[in-house]
Amino acid sequence: MQKPILILGACGQIGTELTMELRNKYGRESVIASDIREGNNSLMESGPFELLDATNYEAIENVVMHYEIDEVYLMAAMLSATAEKFPMRAWNLNMGSLFNILNLAREGKISKIFWPSSIAVFGPNTPKDDTPQSTIMEPSTVYGISKQSGERWCEYYFKKFGVDVRSVRYPGLISWKTMPGGGTTDYAVEIYHDALKKGSYQSFLDKETRLPMMYMDDAIRATISLMESPAENLTIRSSYNLGSMSFTPNEVAKSIQKHIPDFTISYAPDFRQQIADSWPSSIDDTPARKDWGWQPGFDLDQTTVEMLENLK
Ligand code: SER
Repeated sequence: MQKPILILGACGQIGTELTMELRNKYGRESVIASDIREGNNSLMESGPFELLDATNYEAIENVVMHYEIDEVYLMAAMLSATAEKFPMRAWNLNMGSLFNILNLAREGKISKIFWPSSIAVFGPNTPKDDTPQSTIMEPSTVYGISKQSGERWCEYYFKKFGVDVRSVRYPGLISWKTMPGGGTTDYAVEIYHDALKKGSYQSFLDKETRLPMMYMDDAIRATISLMESPAENLTIRSSYNLGSMSFTPNEVAKSIQKHIPDFTISYAPDFRQQIADSWPSSIDDTPARKDWGWQPGFDLDQTTVEMLENLK
């Protein structure tokens, strides 16, 4: 039987779908959802839930002891656009929560951790196309600095203390169940909502800004498959590059027009343009494919069909 799992940040864009999928897989009682606020009805009704602040070590420790938690998925974080507005809050949340979980594992109270990193670990000096696993990083955003530091700490805790921590660098994630919040890639979700509601969208990123993206089903599958892989197969304990598709706002618009011919897009880049410009256009994920068999499933047109069908 699956030992109990705790998800921190279970009510966010990724956490909601991850919780539901893990409950389908391992049974509702084996997956404890937690967040600082309550989530949507289907999440709240699908199994146990605890109100929990990811920066509060004692509170997390109590829940871990109470449910005899074995694995933690730490999905709580402040994303790139919001983090530029609240740098210290972002640093305290993103780093404080990670140290809490790493230290719980170091003390032997839990045995496995998933912690997401991001394409934001890369910066303006990184090769933009097919960005390799190991390359120049030098992130230029608050969020990217926190994720890059987090990666170093994950590898350090693995090497120094044998902590079984696993991670992927998510690209922008597209989903219809829960809205993203405060990210630079959020346009790729908003555009589908506006296409159906208004027939038009004003993009905060420029027409030709190409970023790595992924449909949520692929992201959840990657996460669970990495967590289920035998430890000895994993050669990277900082964070794996994870590739799927790459596209521009213009290309999403064209993909939507195949279903809604009158859909129009306009462009009004804001401060998020500079963040996007510092990130890669596409990702080389060879180590993830080699070590744990990663293979993406959804391309842009398939994502468009899923998004429009489900949002209707
Ligand atoms: N989607 C995230 C953001 O835009 C990147 O990890 O902040």
